[in-house]
Amino acid sequence: MEEKINSTEIPLSITDFGEEFVWGVATAVFQTEGAYKKDGKGYSIWDIFSNEKGNIYQNHTARESCDFYHKYKEDILLMKSMNLKNFRFSLSWSRILLNGIGEINHNGIDFYNDVINFCLESGITPWVTLYHWDLPHSLELQGGWTNRKILHWFSQYVKVCASHFGDRVKHWMILNEPMVFTGGGYFLGVHAPGKKGIKQFLPAVHHAQLSQAIGARILRKEVNNAQIGTTYSCSQITPKNQSKRNAKAAIRVDALLNRLFIEPVLGLGYPSEDLPILKKLKPYILSGDMERSTFDFDFIGIQNYTREVVGHSYFVPYLRAKIIKATKRNVATTLMDWEVYPASIYEMIKKFNSYRKIPRLIITENGAAFKDEPIDGEVNDTNRKLFLQHYIQHVLKAKQEGLNIGGYFVWTFTDNFEWAEGYYPRFGLVHVDFKSQKRTLKSSGKWYRDFLGKKV
Ligand code: BGC
Repeated sequence: MEEKINSTEIPLSITDFGEEFVWGVATAVFQTEGAYKKDGKGYSIWDIFSNEKGNIYQNHTARESCDFYHKYKEDILLMKSMNLKNFRFSLSWSRILLNGIGEINHNGIDFYNDVINFCLESGITPWVTLYHWDLPHSLELQGGWTNRKILHWFSQYVKVCASHFGDRVKHWMILNEPMVFTGGGYFLGVHAPGKKGIKQFLPAVHHAQLSQAIGARILRKEVNNAQIGTTYSCSQITPKNQSKRNAKAAIRVDALLNRLFIEPVLGLGYPSEDLPILKKLKPYILSGDMERSTFDFDFIGIQNYTREVVGHSYFVPYLRAKIIKATKRNVATTLMDWEVYPASIYEMIKKFNSYRKIPRLIITENGAAFKDEPIDGEVNDTNRKLFLQHYIQHVLKAKQEGLNIGGYFVWTFTDNFEWAEGYYPRFGLVHVDFKSQKRTLKSSGKWYRDFLGKKV
């Protein structure tokens, strides 16, 4: 369906966004770093999950990935040459703490210090995500996110990160997309650790929920002048038609995918009126938990790729709603079979903006996967360039309407390990030949570089 992508180029000017607007690229450690057991690193749940046959597309693993562990200088210099001033990446809990708790792995601390220092020397601000899905395996053996002890384990990890990096890192995100890692990893079993069912999902949700605020409070105490955020996946939800049943199905899906984690943070509680299965969270909620879930974040990261069209279904347990696949709707899609729907990013900014207590929104991920192959040393990924232009145009529309949007990060810098899809979908501005580790700047990357460079 790639040919359906709107082929009108959008002439964007960075000056329209104002001086304060933050531009960058985003990555995650498990997807890029490789060196999966080097220098004392322990295994994460994704190391285990991706090494089990049948979990990942063509049994790809992330043992080497883009080898960011050894190539970080080259990659950061490439970012610099692309006029990038902000780099969002995550830290590997299993590289920092042996067994996930207790003894510190100083090699891990040294590595992240090198990355952070090299960013700063290169004029690039590090934006650090504490948790992008790679829980230490030793903690999963004790129940992982389903075990309430995770609040203690996570607090220890955050303290270590704050004390070692907080003098130089001032932009922090606590969790990456808690809905995706609890839903994919503890309900559907399609992501690590591969657990399934509501009895795994509900405690994982509540503990991830609490960890956002607990982690944030630790950073507030330990790091001077920190800008603290956390990030959420979100998609515009459209009912397949205006029937009452479908409209109600859309409300349930919206509560699950877009509201579940942000509303308790803002003191609004879980959206269980609109999604009754959430009432079953009750046994996991101890006295004082809902107060402990709140935090005044400095910013909220919203991550948008597509929209979902939904209809009522008796056959889907708990949700009684199903997503109508984009491939069945005769619309433009990316290689992930996600609809290309730029207005969704605008709608999501508007939706989060309507929570009055959020001071600043930042698009911490947006991007597209296509099947990019170099031809004569060039990767002409026109579709990605158009995708980015159209989505950024909608970000601008939100900004011009006075919504509190303050930044935008492309997902992602280099092609990398796309979780259960392995290396098949390429999301990068930079092409990676995974055999030779050669980097090639795609035409979308050149476009982004030139767009960022045109400051007046
Ligand atoms: C995640 C990334 C992922 C991207 C594309 C987001 O859900 O944070 O890790 O690669 O979407 O699927």
